[in-house]
Amino acid sequence: MTTERNHRSEPWAIDDSEFYELVNRREEMEFLLRYAVLAPSSHNTQPWTFTIVPEGIEVFADYTRSLPHVDGDSRELLMSVGAAIMNLRIAAAHFGFESAVLYHGSAYQTPPVALVTLKETCDPDLELSRLFPAILTRRTNRRPFDGEPVGPKALASLCDLADDHPDSVRFLLPQTRMRIAELVAQGDRLQMENRAVREELADWVRPARTNASDGICADAFGIPDLLTPVAASLIRKVDLGGMQARRDAQLVGTTPLLMMITAEDDQRSLLEAGQVLERLLLTATLAGLQYSFMNQPVQVTTLRALLTPLVRSPHPPQLLIRIGYAPPVARAMPRRNVRDVIQTR
Ligand SMILES: Cc1cc2nc3c(=O)[nH]c(=O)nc-3n(C[C@H](O)[C@H](O)[C@H](O)COP(=O)(O)O)c2cc1C
Repeated sequence: MTTERNHRSEPWAIDDSEFYELVNRREEMEFLLRYAVLAPSSHNTQPWTFTIVPEGIEVFADYTRSLPHVDGDSRELLMSVGAAIMNLRIAAAHFGFESAVLYHGSAYQTPPVALVTLKETCDPDLELSRLFPAILTRRTNRRPFDGEPVGPKALASLCDLADDHPDSVRFLLPQTRMRIAELVAQGDRLQMENRAVREELADWVRPARTNASDGICADAFGIPDLLTPVAASLIRKVDLGGMQARRDAQLVGTTPLLMMITAEDDQRSLLEAGQVLERLLLTATLAGLQYSFMNQPVQVTTLRALLTPLVRSPHPPQLLIRIGYAPPVARAMPRRNVRDVIQTR
């Protein structure tokens, strides 16, 4: 029988020393992909598949796992795929491969969106490999933060990342925080009064003890385990937007730090933004910080227009992230088995 342990904890319990016992390149590529699938994705849809090829790994976006009501243009879907690409490259660097990403030029949805080339090297990218330990410990943490300001060392590591990616990483000014909190709250109300949005979310919400290998277990929202089996039907039937708005406004209003991922809305820019996002989340994790997303005002088109000037970027806002300190999330979200996302040609 499939148990909670299988899908919630086993994908995360990787013994990296096993890599050195592998006998061929295909097994090595599969092993690297076990880290790729631990990437975050919107609603934990895991919208990716992979094909192992002689040059490396082809990456596909799985549009059957899209979220038409909150992510109609599949921007978050592509950034999720980008995050998986970054985990793959970080694991590759850790195990002695150099990687490069070749993007598919066309807008067609079926070809791979990218090819990650992988070559053995004695000189792997240390900037990537130092993030490796955080792949297994990163969790999205929706709980309140303790209010402590971000320490100087942690802040310096985020500043370094922002300096390396000036086009896609922005610190939001403290004086914009209350306005942004208002926009998040408006987003919550507008989204949750829409039955289609609630149904879409409910389709991906799982009990704490689940056999599912994807979706968000409701304990991630702070719901006690015993009540998690009814969470999906509650979300489906009841508009909890007012309650959610008050909670999120409080979370944003009291967060020590707000950051934004910005990018143009085309496929390549979004895949690149997803890679930068994962670098940011892993850098924050390594620095002992917690984070969660507050993307509602990006997802609602009218609110995105109001948010844009607050971000001070030449590129449109894509993801809003609050960062601070809190006790870490103990239980990971489920993942699909890596074999289920590897396609053969
Ligand atoms: C592009 C993207 C958008 C996301 N948007 C939200 C969001 O709006 N609200 C939220 O609570 N979590 C959001 N998440 C977090 C996912 O729900 C989370 O990654 C997923 O449930 C897996 O959990 P984990 O990150 O702890 O592994 C987002 C993640 C990604 C990659």
